[in-house]
Amino acid sequence: MTETHHLADEAETLAFGQVLAGRLEQGGVVYLSGDLGAGKTTLVRGILRAFGFTGRVKSPSYGLIESYELDGLTVHHLDLYRLGHGEEIEYLGLEDLFHGPTLLLIEWPEKGQGYLPAATTVIHLADRVDGGRVLSLAKPGGERREDGKGKREKGKSL
Ligand SMILES: Nc1ncnc2c1ncn2[C@@H]1O[C@H](COP(=O)(O)OP(=O)(O)O)[C@@H](O)[C@H]1O
Ligand SMILES: [Mg+2]
Repeated sequence: MTETHHLADEAETLAFGQVLAGRLEQGGVVYLSGDLGAGKTTLVRGILRAFGFTGRVKSPSYGLIESYELDGLTVHHLDLYRLGHGEEIEYLGLEDLFHGPTLLLIEWPEKGQGYLPAATTVIHLADRVDGGRVLSLAKPGGERREDGKGKREKGKSL
């Protein structure tokens, strides 16, 4: 099942990031898709602030990844917009990042298709004609287990 949220302005995107943070405290892999300017980085900023990060949230476009060691949780923010080929992701060593509770927030995941860990949450942001944004969120069920024991729970949310 997909949930849909109307975010009227930047403040609402930041506030929704805070709500999301409460649901991502245990970590996970979040795919953030949507056009340039859709609000993906704004949402990441809202999430990081909710976890107590007070510094500037840089867009990781050039380095592909920015990491944040926060209280009890490590957050890695990836932006794959400038990725040349999915294979370049292998140099980032994403498998080695999962020590303890880890949250991956990945902008432009479609550019890394086939090279990324499976999403636990999939978010899409799109412009609305009124200037706001519409956010849709889905939780893919079960596919992320590598031992094949994962159950598909299509139609079940959260
Ligand atoms: N809900 C919203 N309504 C209108 N503007 C928004 C909303 N959320 C974010 N923005 C604005 O959209 C712009 C682009 O945001 P950004 O997060 O950098 O996009 P992206 O990372 O998807 O390219 C920013 O100027 C931000 O203030
Ligand atoms: Mg961005």
